[in-house]
Parts: sequence; structure tokens; C-alpha cells
Amino acid sequence: MKPLILLSLLVLVPCVRAQETGLIVNTEGRKTTSLNGQWQVIVDPYESGFYNYRYQPSDNGYFKNAKPKNKSELIEYDFDKSETLKVPGDWNTQSDQLFFYEGTVWYKKSFDYQRKPNTRVFVYFGAANYFADVYLNGEKLGQHEGGFTPFNFEITNRVKDTGNFLVVKVDNKRRLDAVPTLMTDWWNYGGLTREVKLIETPQTFVNDYFVQLQPGSRNRVTGWVKLSGDKLNQRVTVRIPEAGVSRSFTSNAGGTATIDLTADLKLWSPDSPKLYEVFIEAETDQVREQIGFRNIETRGTDILLNGRPLFLRGVCIHEEAPLRGGRAYSREDAVTLLSWAKELGANFVRLAHYPHNEFMVREADRMGIMVWSEIPVYWTIQWENPDTLKNARNQLQEMITRDKNRAAVVIWSVANETPLSDARLTFLKNLITHARSLDGTRLLSAAMERHYLNPTTQMIDDPLGEFLDVLGCNEYVGWYDGLPEKADGLEWKSKYQKPLVMSEFGGDALFNHHGDALTRWTEEYQESIYHHQIAMLKKIPFLRGTSPWILTDFRSPRRPLPGIQDYWNRKGLISDRGEKKKAFYVLQDWYQEMR
Ligand code: GCU
Repeated sequence: MKPLILLSLLVLVPCVRAQETGLIVNTEGRKTTSLNGQWQVIVDPYESGFYNYRYQPSDNGYFKNAKPKNKSELIEYDFDKSETLKVPGDWNTQSDQLFFYEGTVWYKKSFDYQRKPNTRVFVYFGAANYFADVYLNGEKLGQHEGGFTPFNFEITNRVKDTGNFLVVKVDNKRRLDAVPTLMTDWWNYGGLTREVKLIETPQTFVNDYFVQLQPGSRNRVTGWVKLSGDKLNQRVTVRIPEAGVSRSFTSNAGGTATIDLTADLKLWSPDSPKLYEVFIEAETDQVREQIGFRNIETRGTDILLNGRPLFLRGVCIHEEAPLRGGRAYSREDAVTLLSWAKELGANFVRLAHYPHNEFMVREADRMGIMVWSEIPVYWTIQWENPDTLKNARNQLQEMITRDKNRAAVVIWSVANETPLSDARLTFLKNLITHARSLDGTRLLSAAMERHYLNPTTQMIDDPLGEFLDVLGCNEYVGWYDGLPEKADGLEWKSKYQKPLVMSEFGGDALFNHHGDALTRWTEEYQESIYHHQIAMLKKIPFLRGTSPWILTDFRSPRRPLPGIQDYWNRKGLISDRGEKKKAFYVLQDWYQEMR
């Protein structure tokens, strides 16, 4: 009897260690090997590479990357003779056949990897939309749900020197119980949409850390450093050379070191987006990071940055690649989109409706643009489904884990345009509590809806408002609600003494389509909406920010109008070809006026 118990214990130890390793942050600051490039793919609408003809999971699926051993063996797929797709990239814009495709695509990448002694190796995905099953050398590593947040698996004891094959089943089928659910107003771009890389670390390494200004302070930096590995009790030093800071702390048995130091710091702001080189040094590992230090808080209806009231001059952005369309993923995409926002006079962007790629938030850090980051709890989610809640909580945690050291990120948003109900409120309160437990340094918000108290009075009294720091509200007066001039006579009221960000307003226009200001789809109609909106917004006493819908046209399956939309939502101030519409200049003038 005894030997068996021992055996089971042995098996347990590696697992426990593996479970300690959470999402690895700041992959840019580590030793990595890119797996980007062409991957062989198999398009598998019936998931016959995963299920047998009885629709039961098969042990002999495509993840085996099998080859016939002799002329008689029956193998009905062959990755190495299959098409390829580029990673990162969505499949919809890489092949006309896959433009509308929603289903499973199998990806395979072969690679060699000589692991150095006393190191660990992880495979890291920036994102895979929507559900990913990941295998290495025919063995399952794990799975991930959610199309817009990163995940990693340890492969230390599985990677071989040569002949490795990484196989990922990516399925972007929409489901009622998923997050987002069945209906969205954006294209369901599928695939390995962001970078894939191998990360090499020491046996015990700096897995995660949180280094930010203590709320309400201008010089106290607090947080933690989390080690992963078997030497968890270590001296951990945080160095900020430019500020003359070098302080050491000791990590506890669980590998966590609590950080608390004071420093004379130049605070980050849009006008001076100061980033400090910060070194997180353990005895066995060190990570280099760029961090800005700033304070963001509310006081009554004001939003304060570093103690001073400010107005968030913003615009919404979808992760649509500028000029070429498809899911954006690169630093260049981020710089192009954020530079257009800067040109508009923006100091703020609402990244809708899901966490965008890490380049977006890191470039926003560098360019001095504040960010509203959101998880896709969008429209009508299955509020009473515990798995849906677990999924939403996980996406929230992954978003916060990845971006919690970005000074630019000032607002976490937990939802967009969700219908009032007790179940919905319970669901969203759960997310808000979770977010606050993960990060007490940022503001919480959500894009809510408003209603008419009477024909000329708008009211914001969604019960969710009570649990938020900043009220977000979407309104389409002049587009879905009347004509542009309807805004002129409207007054806004709120149940809460809190700052309001008008998180969406606007209307569609096809670039270069002209007519009078009452002709829909023309630049003049959109221009008129902005004129009337801005006049209305200026009168709202508790308004502290705006992020009109939207910086650029973006693809949507809900927009088929031929010759005008052609599956593009045309509410962009800039067209899908980078052309600025008249309304762009109306907003630019207002933002200029406010500076
Ligand atoms: C909604 C929604 C957006 C959508 C927009 C529109 O408010 O939040 O995702 O694209 O309106 O209708 O254009």
C-alpha cells in the first residue's frame, strides 16, 4: 500500500508548483522567443479533429499531428500539407473563404528549443478569440476562454530540444452563456489574434508585481512582488535609479514581498507622461519595467489627476486595424490609432468593448493618453449563469493583471449597455468588488443608459451608479433618438453626486458622401450631430469627460446597408481608409477650445 501513496505525492509536487505560476506580466521585459509568423492551419467546421462521429472527444484528434507510419495507415489530415495563416492575425481578413467563418480552426507551429539548465519555459498567448485548447507534442497543456486577454502555460518538462509541435484549436463560435454573448456590434474576428511567444525564466522568477503610488499620496509607492518557483523566501529589491531609490524587502513563504517606499517622483500626466525605469530584482531573477506614477481619484462630481481637476477629452476606439481592417495587434497599429486621437486633441481614449492589445496601453503610457479599459460584458449577458460570472471575473482579473502597472489606465469598466434587473446588478456588483480587491488605485465605471423623465429631461439613475466612481452613459440623440437639433432642448439630471463621462454619442456618415444636414449618412448630418451634441454637453454641470462613438469606422455584421455600410459601422470620425470626416474637425475645435 505505502509505495502507491508516495507515487501519488510525487505526481502532486510538480502540479502544485505549476499552479503557483499565474499570468506572467511584462513579457517585453523578459527573455522570449517569438512564435509569430506562418502557422499551418486546418479549418474544421464540424470539429472532427476533436470529436469522433459520436460527438465524443477523441483521444486521437488533430492535436496528435499524426503521420501515416506506413502506406496502409489511415490518417485524414496533414498539417504540413495544409494552408497557412499569419499569426498574429484574425483569419477573417486573411482569406475571403473565412470572412464570415465562425467555428474551429486548428493551428500548428513546429519549433526546436534548447532549454538551458535550471531554467523554465512557458508558452504565452497575447490572445486567442474565443476559446482555445492548447497542446504540445500531442499532450494537452490547457484551455482558455475569452478572446481579448493573455494566458500562458508552463512547458518546462514537456519541451524537447527538437521537433516540438504546438497545436491550438481556436473556436470563435458565439454562445449565449459566453462573454460577450451572441449579439455584438463588432466583427467576431477569430484566431490567434495577438503575439505567441516562448518565455524563458530562472527556476524561481519574478512572476508578477504591482508598483504604484499609494492612493492620495504623491511620494509613497506601495504594492507587491510575487515570485514563482521553489526558492520563494528571497530578498527583493525595487530600484528606481533616476529617483535615487533602491529599497529591499523580503518575500514570505508564499513568495510575496510587500513593497512600501517613498520617493521624490515627477508625476505622470498627459502633458508630461513621465515613465521611470524600474528594476524588480530578486536573488534569482530581475525584470526591467517602465512605470509612470500618478494619482487618479474623484471628489464629488470632479475627477482629479494628481490632485487637480480635469476633463477627459476622449474618443472611443475599437481594435480595428487602421487602413487595412481586421483585428489590430501591433505597436504600429497602436501608434497610428493613438496619434489620430492626439490629433483630435484627446487626452483620453475608451478602448471598447474589450481589453485591447498590450501595445495600446503601453503606447498610451508613452504618449500621455489616459485609458478606459473594459471587459466585454456587453448588452444581454446570462446574469444568472455562474459559469458566465466566473468567465467574466476571469477576464476582469486577466485585464487588471496585465495592465495594473500602466499609469495611462485610469478607469476599469465592467459593462456596456446592460439591461436593468436584480440579477444584472448582483452580477455587476460582484465584478466591481472583485476589481476593487485586485486594484484599489483606479476608478471603476460602466457605460450605462439613460431615460426620459419628461420630453426635455434626461435622467441617469441606473442603480449600478451607486457602486461606481465614474458614471458612464451612452446616448444617441440625433441618430437613434430623433434628429440632431433634438439635443438643443435637453437637460440632464443624475441621481448621483458623481462625475459623468458621456461614453458614447454620434452617428453614421460615409466619407465623401455629401448632402444637407438632415440627410442621413452624409458628412453634413454627422457634423450637425456633433454641433448640437457639443452645445448640449457644455450645459451639463457634472460632465467631466466625453468619448464619442467612435474614432474610426469598424466592421460589424449588423451593418449590411449596400453602398453605405457594407458591413462597416460608419460612426467613425475617420473612415476605414484613414480619411477625416467633417465631424472630426468639429470635435477637434471643441477639444482645442478646452485645452
Ligand atoms: C451602442 C454600442 C456600440 C455600438 C453603437 C452603435 O451603443 O455600445 O457597441 O456600436 O451603439 O450603435 O453604433
